[in-house]
Amino acid sequence: MKNLKHQTLLIIDFGSQVTKLIARRLRERKIYCEIHPCKNITNLFLKKLSPQAIILSGGPKSVNDHSSPKVNSLIYELGIPILGICYGQQLMMHQLGGKVESGKFSAEFGRAFLELKKETKLLDGWFNQNKEVVWMSHGDHVSKLAPGFEVCAISPNASHAVVADIKRNFYGVQFHPEVHHTTKGLILFDNFLKIAGFNGDWTMKAYQEEMIHQIKDIVKKDKVICGISGGVDSTVTAVLLHKAIKKQLTCIFVNHGFLRKNEENEVLEMFKNDIKIPLIYADESDLFFSELEGISDPEVKRKKIGKLFIKVFEKYAQRIKGSKFLGQGTLYPDVIESVSVHGGESETIKSHHNVGGLPEKMGLKLIEPLKEIFKDEVRYLGREMGINKNFLNRHPFPGPGLAIRCPGEITKDKLEILKNADHIFIEQIKKYGLYDKIWQAFVAILPVKTVGVMGDKRTYDFACTLRAVTSVDGMTADYYPFEHEFLKDTSTRIINEVKGINRVTYDITSKPPGTIEWE
Ligand code: XMP
Repeated sequence: MKNLKHQTLLIIDFGSQVTKLIARRLRERKIYCEIHPCKNITNLFLKKLSPQAIILSGGPKSVNDHSSPKVNSLIYELGIPILGICYGQQLMMHQLGGKVESGKFSAEFGRAFLELKKETKLLDGWFNQNKEVVWMSHGDHVSKLAPGFEVCAISPNASHAVVADIKRNFYGVQFHPEVHHTTKGLILFDNFLKIAGFNGDWTMKAYQEEMIHQIKDIVKKDKVICGISGGVDSTVTAVLLHKAIKKQLTCIFVNHGFLRKNEENEVLEMFKNDIKIPLIYADESDLFFSELEGISDPEVKRKKIGKLFIKVFEKYAQRIKGSKFLGQGTLYPDVIESVSVHGGESETIKSHHNVGGLPEKMGLKLIEPLKEIFKDEVRYLGREMGINKNFLNRHPFPGPGLAIRCPGEITKDKLEILKNADHIFIEQIKKYGLYDKIWQAFVAILPVKTVGVMGDKRTYDFACTLRAVTSVDGMTADYYPFEHEFLKDTSTRIINEVKGINRVTYDITSKPPGTIEWE
């Protein structure tokens, strides 16, 4: 599905760790932008996307290295404003006739102070003081400007910290305005957007209307099926599809038996009473459980669940005659993750489960109306469409569910214990008013029994671990620093109320090196 109406800003990625942050900053300012790897910028691509401005991201390479990523030089002839950040600035200089050098006096990492040399629209409202703090991270530096450019600001190790060619509206900054350590970074983006004539037309209301129009246009009189997991993304996808095509949509909720306590009832009630979309409920928990019995390898578990899910989904979907499309809640970060700058493959850490294997097999076409937006935008969109706020703010829950929170063999007893302990942990987090401060929280039951003593009696029960993390997008995470009082209270409740657990631990691993889930 393609964005048709909005003013579009193209971000060309050269492999920086923080490219996604540029997109976040712009989306927050109601600007539609897309990130694309530099190798994809063909003449045809530029013609089709027709961007109104371009930002060149940072990157880990040196432009002088002949294997370093370059970009189609047609971008400099489109007559649109360009902002180069760090590597992006150096590449612009390199490609337009300037010079970049490496050397021990080139490097600058961390905080640096910028000094104004020449006023430019890009720096409007920046220099209230003589020097402004920015965040640098560069090994090379520009040593000779490309024709048409002039220096607007310097820093101790970057004599070309801000450069501008005001005739062509080309700008380059050596620092990173997208990171929050550059305290006035947002002002710089606002100035650039103003120079490029953006008016902030990217709102979730507009997006909703546009998507409904596009869905109708694509689906016409055909039928769409949509898998519901009870999570935010699949639910928002279903509501959007339903608004567009009403009865042509069938939603299927597969219960694999690894849902949280009462979750199946909550989802069914919500669809019936709040969302009011008919749902086929497929309780296949016995099938999943029997197939997973005796398996302890995490990858085997994940792959089996993925395959079974496809099998079950296929069984139900075949009953819906005339289905041509499969609705899926893919988000923009999933799309970015799957395209790398150099086209290399990143190592598989975990096989994520979705219904990706289905469309080809069943001759279905994918329809992914959230493919252009981020998680927080999905929540705005959901709110815009009237979905309950409490539901939209729910923590993410993985497709394989509790199966990957039960390291080792899964048994019905362990699942029951896990459900009860997890329920108490979340209840406690809500009671202490912490739910919205935490990205994700859950309990994992450990494959080990330990000795305890309760009421003068020896116990020999399972140990569990509490996991609560803060994160922006799940890619990196840190453990949540609970007060001791909270941990003490929660541990007491779990041990007293959950039969089968006699020891509670708190997982204080960040990601990396850990992952959020235990498997
Ligand atoms: P990890 O454990 O990889 O998790 O640090 C990052 C985020 O992804 C969720 N997750 C999944 N979500 N299917 C999903 O839909 C999966 O197979 C899956 N595995 C992990 C995890 O809960 C966390 O939010």
